[in-house]
Amino acid sequence: MSGILDGKRILITGVLMESSIAFHAAKLAQEQGAEVILTAFPRPTLTERIAKKLPKPAKVIELDVTNQEHLDRLAGLVKDELGSLDGVVHSIGFAPQDALGGNFLNTPFESVATAMHVSAFSLKSLTMACRPLMSSGAAVVGLTFDAQFAWPQYDWMGPAKAALEATSRYLARDLGKEGIRCNLVSAGPIGSMAAKSIPGFTDLADVWNTRSPLEWNMADPEPTGRAIVALLSDWFPKTTGEIVHVDGGVHMMGA
Ligand SMILES: NC(=O)c1ccc[n+]([C@@H]2O[C@H](COP(=O)([O-])OP(=O)(O)OC[C@H]3O[C@@H](n4cnc5c(N)ncnc54)[C@H](O)[C@@H]3O)[C@@H](O)[C@H]2O)c1
Repeated sequence: MSGILDGKRILITGVLMESSIAFHAAKLAQEQGAEVILTAFPRPTLTERIAKKLPKPAKVIELDVTNQEHLDRLAGLVKDELGSLDGVVHSIGFAPQDALGGNFLNTPFESVATAMHVSAFSLKSLTMACRPLMSSGAAVVGLTFDAQFAWPQYDWMGPAKAALEATSRYLARDLGKEGIRCNLVSAGPIGSMAAKSIPGFTDLADVWNTRSPLEWNMADPEPTGRAIVALLSDWFPKTTGEIVHVDGGVHMMGA
């Protein structure tokens, strides 16, 4: 059976647990015919353990997106394994505890800087690290949480996601002439490790129980994974700098 990623080589960051959005993107990408390589943080052993649950084997490379040495060696390591890349998935987010959970007014800049570095600037760093392996038709896909609104508890991850969304547009602008697309999926709440580390995340997720036109299941990252795979495929050939909402429709509800 043919898949929409047949023959494509895709690098996927952010596989930490089975609940990781990236795990589901990797699973669906393999099911759709892609050869997948994973990057791991904080330890390759954790990601290797989860990778065993994928339908096919996937090589794991250590990558802290804030570590320039890791970024510099990435293209060489990926080239040895796959030769080139048709797609890159950025599924990375982090903010220190004092930048989350209702402490917005008191968060020190050091914590804001960490959130911005890991969650937003890293889209540029990762894309540039992979750029030598990408050519016309390649796609970069990242994950956001709708940065148009001020959410309960989300605090400095909000401005970090706003920066990520703008970064994606500027990457789309500058890489368009090379035929490389850059898009984001704006997902509704999913009960992953990153989500559970936000104090009071269930208050935020409760919004979906009352406002989502489509029924929303926080335990199901597959709809988000499907959108990632679609954006990696050749079925969005002229779409770039776009944000596709996979949020049950909450983004367009007035009340
Ligand atoms: N869970 C949600 O409700 C939700 C909603 C919308 C968007 N997102 C976004 O989806 C993406 C994936 O998150 P998730 O929900 O799957 O959680 P997750 O905890 O499974 O994934 C977050 C990943 O970020 C990685 N990471 C953190 N610091 C890193 C660093 N310095 N270098 C490299 N990797 C690093 C972690 O290893 C982890 O794999 C994030 O960008 C997150 O903000 C999540």
